[in-house]
Amino acid sequence: MKKLRIAVNTGGGDAPGLNAVLRAVTLTALNRGFEVIGIRKGYLGLLDTSQLFPLTYDAVRGITHLGGSILGTNNRGNPLAVRVVENGQERFVDVSDQAVETFRRLRFDGLIAIGGDGSLKIANGLAQKGIPIIGVPKTIDNDLAATLVTFGFDTAVATATDAIDKLHSTAESHDRVLVVELMGRHCGWIAISAGIAGSADVILIPEIPFRFDKVCEKIMDREASGRHFSIVVCAEGATPVGGEITVVAMTDGRDRLGGIADKVALEIERRTGKETRSLTLGHLQRGGQPTAFDRLLSLRFGAAAVRLAEEGRWGTMVAYDPPDMVAVPLEAAVASLKRVPLDGDIVRTARELGMSFGD
Ligand code: F6P
Repeated sequence: MKKLRIAVNTGGGDAPGLNAVLRAVTLTALNRGFEVIGIRKGYLGLLDTSQLFPLTYDAVRGITHLGGSILGTNNRGNPLAVRVVENGQERFVDVSDQAVETFRRLRFDGLIAIGGDGSLKIANGLAQKGIPIIGVPKTIDNDLAATLVTFGFDTAVATATDAIDKLHSTAESHDRVLVVELMGRHCGWIAISAGIAGSADVILIPEIPFRFDKVCEKIMDREASGRHFSIVVCAEGATPVGGEITVVAMTDGRDRLGGIADKVALEIERRTGKETRSLTLGHLQRGGQPTAFDRLLSLRFGAAAVRLAEEGRWGTMVAYDPPDMVAVPLEAAVASLKRVPLDGDIVRTARELGMSFGD
């Protein structure tokens, strides 16, 4: 059996469980006599060899429970489209041939790419250029269709649920409406899961465009029944019927999702006269120790990725298909987003509990 020389990177936004995957990849590989090289800063490290270092038993000791990534990460380093700004003009340059050349020169047999939708699309692009890649599905958003669940999601939901629990006391003591904005990009998995677990009254998700009159109707119904406070959970990608996604302009000219909770809170206060406050949970959802579920999932993903490498099943992504870990083609894994199904059990459960989606 050939002793593999495997590179590993973590790309895109960080997520709780990255270090657990790195530990499992490293131990599983070293225990087979393979070599593991960590690439710092996502795909940027493939262009700059000073960013490479060997992952040893010592390097991954005691990291299972730690948030973040010992390799660091980067969500701007796409070798297929490096952003260059000259004289105020933006253009994108493809330097992937250089990345492929570095990869071959360093005699890597393959890359284990740990990433979400964006990073795995880059992985797929590099795979088509000849780099043997196995993907590991990371994202708190849980929006990858090919796996039942991504690692990081359970921790984000636990953090968001804890926040909603804490908001109840202020909302109830002050007879206020509290609107909390949660992450998730164009999918409402975090919002609906934490919303149900945290007993929200209204849950706004991108999959179900909402109406302000319906949101306010729910709040006023509660008011009439003696419940003088309400909790509104709002996914960052939620939109009113016929409206646009709310974004914040960044200094580099790009937009990021954010700001819908403020808009919703203002409109609720204007329409109902009830004192309303908003907050955005933001990156708290990506931080902290992974839950036991995420640790286990991450360790299983990492070990499975090395098993696939040993079997030569490059060009695939590890997916959780309980009770097993399976391999799905990388291309298929990034082809579509997993959105909250409108007729699925989770939406149904929320409705049956009397929660409103503002529709
Ligand atoms: O994809 C993970 C995520 O946290 C999204 O939920 C969120 O929209 C985005 O990343 C935020 O990205 P950044 O950290 O670059 O602002």
